[in-house]
Amino acid sequence: MSSPKLTDGLGRAISYMRLSVTDRCNLSCTYCAGGPREFIPHPDILRYEECTSLISLARSLGVSKVRLTGGEPFVRKGFTDFVVRTLTDFPGLDLRITTNATLLTPNIDTLARAGLGRVNISLDTLDRAKYQRITGCDLYAEVRRAIDACLAAGIKVKVNCVAMRGVNQEELPGFVNLARQLPIDLRFIEFMPVGGANGWDQTTVWSAEEIIAEAGKLVGLIPVGRENQLGKTGEAEANRGPARMFEIEGGLGRLGVISPLSCHFCATCNRLRLTSDGRLRTCLFSDKTYNLRPLLRHPKLGPDAVRRVIEAAIRTKPEGYKLLRERMKNRIQGGSVCATRMHSIGG
Ligand code: 5AD
Repeated sequence: MSSPKLTDGLGRAISYMRLSVTDRCNLSCTYCAGGPREFIPHPDILRYEECTSLISLARSLGVSKVRLTGGEPFVRKGFTDFVVRTLTDFPGLDLRITTNATLLTPNIDTLARAGLGRVNISLDTLDRAKYQRITGCDLYAEVRRAIDACLAAGIKVKVNCVAMRGVNQEELPGFVNLARQLPIDLRFIEFMPVGGANGWDQTTVWSAEEIIAEAGKLVGLIPVGRENQLGKTGEAEANRGPARMFEIEGGLGRLGVISPLSCHFCATCNRLRLTSDGRLRTCLFSDKTYNLRPLLRHPKLGPDAVRRVIEAAIRTKPEGYKLLRERMKNRIQGGSVCATRMHSIGG
């Protein structure tokens, strides 16, 4: 495992890269898509070899964890092979995938055999009809099948649920039960006003505090310490994220909350994001991007130039909560704090 070498202007060690392999998705979730989508033209999408170059560069800069995201990564042709190659090419890399899991099941055995350890699966309801209303597709059963198949294959599963008052709040007991019955980490993510008109307004906010209070009335919750606070959880550093996790008394899984709105985690942010067309984003809430693609594709420049831009970009990595606070003051009702759609950032 490489040691962190990359430090930003605020002294935060950068050890985690989220790499989107496509902005396309087979679902069109209300909270993410928000109206008609425009996709990045094919020639602008990084080729897999270019993704590999970026991972290699990130590795050399001290990145120890890479998450492959979309859109939906499995809609891209050859994605499973790319994951297998990446696991082979970068032994010791902590490689993970975020997926809606609708296309996952047929690939699970291959991924497990290649050594993939973890996936994050998005699931915002446990009701088939509501799943169709949120996503536009009748694929709820597929997702449930994929979760079971991952667990059977020994792949650890985190389930991400966007917490939306008026949409899935009354399903809390069902979600708590799921996390009791399955050895998964179920995390509620506060609904963020990111990326076009996505239905967010103050009335849809269901805060992390409320979720934990309401869940605590249903089951015994034992805090495992904020995952990103060193020394508290006993977990490996790479497994700590922005979630506050709780063991469930008598349950197999854990429940958690991710609170970008009510309780930000900028102070321990260790991440970089790369969009599928090769733009580096140092903060989810900042639309400032650094276009690495022309450098990567330039016959004479290549990795050294890319490295210099990454290093320079990281020096001014912002604290997103400040941008969020500023933009929330100025936002137009129904608009959002950051113009880029979530499916093109990769979450
Ligand atoms: N607010 C909160 N979470 C979101 N995600 C996508 N859009 C939003 C939003 N507006 C989540 C997805 C996925 C993760 C990558 O980001 O559900 O689980």
